[in-house]
Amino acid sequence: MKHTANNRRKFIQSLLALPCLSILPVSAAMRTPRATEGPFYPTKSMRYGDIDNDLVKISNEVKQAGGEVLHLQGRVLDTNNKPIKGARVEIWQCDANGHYLHTGDRNPVPLDKAFQGFGHTISGHNGEYSFRTIKPVSYPGRTPHIHVKAFANGRELTTQFYIDDYPENDYDFLFNRMSLEQQEAVSMRLKQGKEGLEATLDIIV
Ligand SMILES: [Fe+2]
Repeated sequence: MKHTANNRRKFIQSLLALPCLSILPVSAAMRTPRATEGPFYPTKSMRYGDIDNDLVKISNEVKQAGGEVLHLQGRVLDTNNKPIKGARVEIWQCDANGHYLHTGDRNPVPLDKAFQGFGHTISGHNGEYSFRTIKPVSYPGRTPHIHVKAFANGRELTTQFYIDDYPENDYDFLFNRMSLEQQEAVSMRLKQGKEGLEATLDIIV
């Protein structure tokens, strides 16, 4: 069976329909599945300068990054679904050409100098976080993804967010390592909004 988004949803719904599960008390939420940091987490020296939560626009630059604008938002929660205020959330991803803002990236495509590549934010009162970035694109060997790191309640969680039901997910070695439920937890359902694409995904640490 292909691990499509529909199959994932059907699988999870079928679990919930089982009488033995439906009589169980509400249990702790599953933590967001962890994933490798990968080789392109910015080094300390790369994390200076503009590292705000708008990756599409670098301060003092006129040009805007290439790619499709994506507004990513969600909440940082603990496993009891309690919002965590003051959590640091970081994201990093390649630009619209498939190149990371990292000296170790040897992909022979031009770097989009207008793309910030890395950004961070601090979660608000209700655990909310948001980023303005671009829709992730694929690069050799990987389906599109956004790297995410959260520091909350003394824990550090590193993961990757994917595009829900994206065809290349079926062939991605990291995406396919996860269970259907885990895949669901890190899949962004993109919607067209007024100012670009929108996606909402909580981070449970
Ligand atoms: Fe990556």
